[in-house]
Amino acid sequence: MSRTSTVIAGNWKMYKTTCEAKTFVESLAPLIKKSQATVYLAVPFTAIDQTVQVVKELGAPITIGAQNMNDAAEGAFTGEIAARMLKDVGAGFVILGHSERRQIFNETSAFINKKVKRALKDSLQPILCIGETLAQHESGETESVLKGQLQGSLEGVTSEELSKMIIAYEPVWAIGTGKVAHPDDAEKAHAFVRSVLAEAWGKEVADHIVIQYGGSVKPENAVDLIRQPNIDGLLVGGASLSADTFSKIINGLLA
Ligand code: 13P
Repeated sequence: MSRTSTVIAGNWKMYKTTCEAKTFVESLAPLIKKSQATVYLAVPFTAIDQTVQVVKELGAPITIGAQNMNDAAEGAFTGEIAARMLKDVGAGFVILGHSERRQIFNETSAFINKKVKRALKDSLQPILCIGETLAQHESGETESVLKGQLQGSLEGVTSEELSKMIIAYEPVWAIGTGKVAHPDDAEKAHAFVRSVLAEAWGKEVADHIVIQYGGSVKPENAVDLIRQPNIDGLLVGGASLSADTFSKIINGLLA
């Protein structure tokens, strides 16, 4: 397997105003100047426009994206946001199928599948999140859950389209809990995800696609995770809210 690039993405969730976002990017940019990693930042909708501008002004190698979107091109969907609106303000990617969307907002893989197709159609790179709950983990259902989420969320997606995507494995029990998956267990899940992709979409695309790990990533555990052969990147929640902490993950430094 040849790793294209290590992609470290921050997911701010519902945190930071435009002013706080600007300060963050101004602090982060000089700290990651020498980094080899590809850096993504999924900010709240309201902060995309300004964050994109600040990144441009600073010449910082950071791609700004969104955390969700609707599957329709446009329409009477009060409170929703379309892919082309996100593109319009400079978003380069969108997180889809995050477990918080699946669990709190009842999003199904079928609905996520529509969003994935819309994002691809409108040239917004999807980061598709999958992951098992604690109960599923404890009852040994991890692989069947991951396979089902992949098949459901990627139905009808071509190999060429899949090659433009990122997959994020985020065990639900590890998100925001401080309980990071053991690197060996995360590696096993990632290898399984890659094998499912290879079987359905071909070895070529499966070998090159970036599969990120997410769930309680911190500077202290990031290095051991990223060392695993099938872990190509990280999706970082809480630890991406501080420029100092996030830069330590990006630079591969121990705190
Ligand atoms: P934490 O890093 O806070 O556990 O969140 C992970 C996550 O949900 C990223 O999308």
